[in-house]
Amino acid sequence: MNLYIKTFGCQMNERDSEIIEQLLLPAGYIPVADPEQADLVILNTCSIRAKAEQKVYSLLGQLRSLKKTHPSMIIGVAGCVAQQEGPRIQVKMPHVDLVIGTQQIYRIPDLVADIRSGLRISTPGASARTGKNVPRTEVSLSDTFAIPPFQNLLYGQAPPSPAVPEFKKFVTIMQGCNNYCSYCVVPYTRGREISRPVQDILEEVRLLVRHGVREITLLGQNVNSYGRTNQVADQPVNFAALLRRVADIDGIRRLRFTTSNPKDLSGELMQCFADLDILCSHFHLPVQSGSNAILARMNRKYTVEQYMEQIHTLRSCRPDIALSTDIIVGFPGETDEDFAATMQLLEEVRFHSSFSFKYSDRPGTRSADFANKVDEEVKTERLKQFQARQDEISLERNRACLNQTMEVMVEGPGRNGLFSGRTPTNHIVHFKAPRDRAPVPGSELLIRITRAGHHSLTGTVVENRG
Ligand code: SAH
Ligand code: SF4
Ligand code: F3S
Repeated sequence: MNLYIKTFGCQMNERDSEIIEQLLLPAGYIPVADPEQADLVILNTCSIRAKAEQKVYSLLGQLRSLKKTHPSMIIGVAGCVAQQEGPRIQVKMPHVDLVIGTQQIYRIPDLVADIRSGLRISTPGASARTGKNVPRTEVSLSDTFAIPPFQNLLYGQAPPSPAVPEFKKFVTIMQGCNNYCSYCVVPYTRGREISRPVQDILEEVRLLVRHGVREITLLGQNVNSYGRTNQVADQPVNFAALLRRVADIDGIRRLRFTTSNPKDLSGELMQCFADLDILCSHFHLPVQSGSNAILARMNRKYTVEQYMEQIHTLRSCRPDIALSTDIIVGFPGETDEDFAATMQLLEEVRFHSSFSFKYSDRPGTRSADFANKVDEEVKTERLKQFQARQDEISLERNRACLNQTMEVMVEGPGRNGLFSGRTPTNHIVHFKAPRDRAPVPGSELLIRITRAGHHSLTGTVVENRG
């Protein structure tokens, strides 16, 4: 049987999709790249902005006709839209067989098997709607860690064996979020913040390294507060201490983490950039706005001054650190002056890159009820202005890399017959493969930079470090 998984949204969802795939392989499913060939389609969805949610419904609309020609196809919706909308998805889209919340993905193989064998279990209320067997919805959220210990075994017993061996992996260190930034759905879609036990994390990293993984990214919505919530049967360990313990594991070449809320960024963590060589010179530190009035209404719990102080400390710990951020423009009540303060912050920090978004009302969030919503045209104009200036700064920063020799970890073949890879600073570098041998993904090269674009660099190989 063929399995097609489409992932939307953040790295947590990417990791969850991997887990879903790993769980379904032993049940006889084979991943395919085209939904038309699939017996089971899973959409792992994102609800962070209205647009992300609309994409899911539009794809579900397309799948409706596909299912007409392939009636035995099972369609499942997982992820944050599933969690948020629950049975409402099947009211709008009756061809959906399974709605599975963010903490229920481990049950997918059993639920799919039930549906296949015709054992559909009725959801109260929904049966009255159709008068026959109805699709299934599993969206409960609990306060305990959803990743069962057997997740580690998935690597040991059924190691993923893609054509190209994987050299970089995400490791989830916590789930959920307790911060309730006023605009954000994540605390509702992912539940309470819970830290994963240290030993589980270390064991998973060791297993991955044994399977040849060279780059590890520790993953959570706010890794900076790791350890503040239950770690189950462990001594309390904060994020800086966890990072040091992971860095001690032999065989890791590169260590990264994401995401960080500035309100919980400790001096101890910043010091790690001075002490740990394998910690990459890149920090994604979402600031959201350059105006203190807006930050307060976003419930971010830090000021622009505190943020600037952190940038200063990070740069003194690691002078070549590349900084990236997230920005929301047009938050309710954002004035021209507030937006000018965001532009000013961009000039002061000169981020290497950023992700910027128009504010979007999300169901159940506090800011959805705030007055003084900013007009769509004003949001569009502000986003354009921010992105244009960021593009200029990114290009200026990239040009400063010209003629430098940079360490690049090979990702694989890219555009125009070139290969591509990444520097520790997370710059994408394109390069021509040496004639005698194609570079192996995960191997490290020294590359001299010969061209700089807005979003990537190009260079020539100076040395292959293996
Ligand atoms: N946990 C991360 C953010 C995850 S969401 C953190 O706290 O930094 C990724 C980004 O989406 C956020 O940083 C924010 O910039 C953006 N975002 C979240 N909710 C949004 C909304 N309602 N409208 C527009 N952008 C939003
Ligand atoms: Fe959302 Fe804030 Fe939590 Fe990030 S820290 S996931 S923005 S509530
Ligand atoms: Fe989206 Fe959920 Fe991630 S809303 S950004 S998939 S946590």
